[in-house]
Amino acid sequence: MKTDSPILLVGCGKMGGALLRGWLRQGLDRTDIHVVEPAAEAAEAVGGELGVAVTASLDQAPADFTADTVVFAVKPQGMDGIVPHYRAMAERGAVCLSIAAGKPIAFFQAHLGNDAAIVRAMPNTPAAVSRGITAACASETVTTAQRSVCQRLLEAVGETVWLENETLIDPVTAVSGSGPAYVFLLIETMAQAGIEQGLPPDVAERLARATVAGSGELARQSQDTADTLRRNVTSPGGTTAAALEVLMSEDGLGALMSRAVEAATRRSRELAG
Ligand SMILES: NC(=O)c1ccc[n+]([C@@H]2O[C@H](COP(=O)([O-])OP(=O)(O)OC[C@H]3O[C@@H](n4cnc5c(N)ncnc54)[C@H](OP(=O)(O)O)[C@@H]3O)[C@@H](O)[C@H]2O)c1
Repeated sequence: MKTDSPILLVGCGKMGGALLRGWLRQGLDRTDIHVVEPAAEAAEAVGGELGVAVTASLDQAPADFTADTVVFAVKPQGMDGIVPHYRAMAERGAVCLSIAAGKPIAFFQAHLGNDAAIVRAMPNTPAAVSRGITAACASETVTTAQRSVCQRLLEAVGETVWLENETLIDPVTAVSGSGPAYVFLLIETMAQAGIEQGLPPDVAERLARATVAGSGELARQSQDTADTLRRNVTSPGGTTAAALEVLMSEDGLGALMSRAVEAATRRSRELAG
């Protein structure tokens, strides 16, 4: 994948590292990338194992280095002190792609200029195995070409969906951003329930993990809706029907999930201020 434009990745932790590895897997030219990463261990992996130029700060980058795309993958709480350093690049026309939870487009415009081109994105952790999904929205100043570069960078780790309305980032965060944790909890609770019914812990964990992973893969490959896939394993009066009667009761999984996603949406709005 050739983007024909230099990329600056700011922060190469879990999510930044997943993106960088995805770009390299897709064949992005490593000489097009510069990483700013102060953490010694993460920087060593970038410079050594991945063979990508890395410095601990922007000041240490080659004086003539300039980026067409700046990707911010640092923790939201660190952003206030970091983003202003990149104002000159934004003023030179770079598009700034942020994956920071709770940091709205207006935050970046306040630090980088009102005309800065900003893409705000929310990926999720299956990006680490190229099975992420990212929702993104762009400021009005982002050009079609910049949008397409950002899309290619995000698609290196999974699917991308564009949102026209930035407020939808909050429910997106609650469904797909935080969602992997709900699925891992499902594995934990299924395994625990199996143990309570007499299964040895290692067997219960293996059964639950493989069932969730396999069902996820089946859902991904199938053209059927989740509702149809569920009905396909439910014979009338059978074991699955007995379980679903509990899970689909008035105070069952549906009600619980509504409350959980509502709480996460609310928290996402609070964090955005
Ligand atoms: N993980 C998720 O599920 C997820 C999902 C969606 C979005 N996100 C977003 O992705 C972003 C990164 O999260 P993460 O989980 O990848 O965090 P992380 O593993 O802590 O990675 C952040 C990296 O940025 C480095 N850093 C700190 N200050 C820096 C600076 N001045 N310049 C450049 N790099 C700097 C950190 O180094 P130090 O360790 O030395 O501080 C760390 O290596 C967050 O904004 C988060 O909201 C994460």
